[in-house]
Amino acid sequence: MNISVGILTVSDRSARGERPDESGPVLIELVTRHLAGAVVTYTAIVPDELSEITTAIKSWCECGAHLVLTTGGTGFAPRDVTPEAVRAVIEREAPGITYAMLQASLTKTPHAMLSRPTAGIRGRTLIITLPGSPRACREIFEIIAPALPHGLALLNEVSEADQFHDATRERRA
Ligand code: MTE
Repeated sequence: MNISVGILTVSDRSARGERPDESGPVLIELVTRHLAGAVVTYTAIVPDELSEITTAIKSWCECGAHLVLTTGGTGFAPRDVTPEAVRAVIEREAPGITYAMLQASLTKTPHAMLSRPTAGIRGRTLIITLPGSPRACREIFEIIAPALPHGLALLNEVSEADQFHDATRERRA
């Protein structure tokens, strides 16, 4: 079983080593425990710099990641550019995912409207932005997790039952 996942933490302070990355490890735990067949293959912490975000995501896509989750940099602060970076790399948007994330998050906190979530597809990779707080990551992962296996199976043109059972299977071009 193998769904290759990349977790990208976007934070100036964590990238400088001034604040421990809490949300990255939370997402690793959630993905590993609750997404059947998922293996976190790539992790990185980058500052809130558009080029660093796009470079990491593009390289993971080229290496065959099925799913990339980012955490942080989705808000209104001047340096929050994660949505812009993700929009620069995706080829097709996935507005249903962002709608579901916002709808569910607004039942938790009105501050959810301060996040600018973005989701989309680059090649065979699904990319989703989550806010920076570990609590938000937990709340949102709970919402998106049930739809991920079917979405990833469609994206990779495999049946949900068969998907990612063969870890050595090469991804289709
Ligand atoms: N969404 C959920 N589900 N739970 C939360 O606690 N926090 C909000 C929002 N979305 C939150 C949430 C807050 S306080 C902010 S400022 C924005 O996400 C943006 O966060 P970011 O800039 O760390 O990405």
